[in-house]
Amino acid sequence: MSKLIVITRDGEENILNGKAGTSLLEIIQDAGIDDLMALCGGCCSCATCHVYVDDAWLAAVGDGNEDEVSLLEDSEHHQKGSRLACQINMTAELDGLRVMVAPEE
Ligand code: FES
Repeated sequence: MSKLIVITRDGEENILNGKAGTSLLEIIQDAGIDDLMALCGGCCSCATCHVYVDDAWLAAVGDGNEDEVSLLEDSEHHQKGSRLACQINMTAELDGLRVMVAPEE
């Protein structure tokens, strides 16, 4: 299990545990946090699972693929650290990862 810290839209900090190989989206939803609508069910086509990766974790998380980047660039809330929670899988290396839920579109 790795630790994931999630700041919700109302500013609440949640410390969650996620199994390696599980997407951040699944970890967040399984914890009962309903900020992410995830309309496409994790298929990288809706961008309603938009989160901001904390600056300290950008290198470890890396960039998304071309489809993800293109979806995020169309978002009015796109900024440094923007990623889709359905496209990041938890790993042991990401233990302690901190993300903030982006504003709703
Ligand atoms: S859930 Fe739709 S892009 Fe992530």
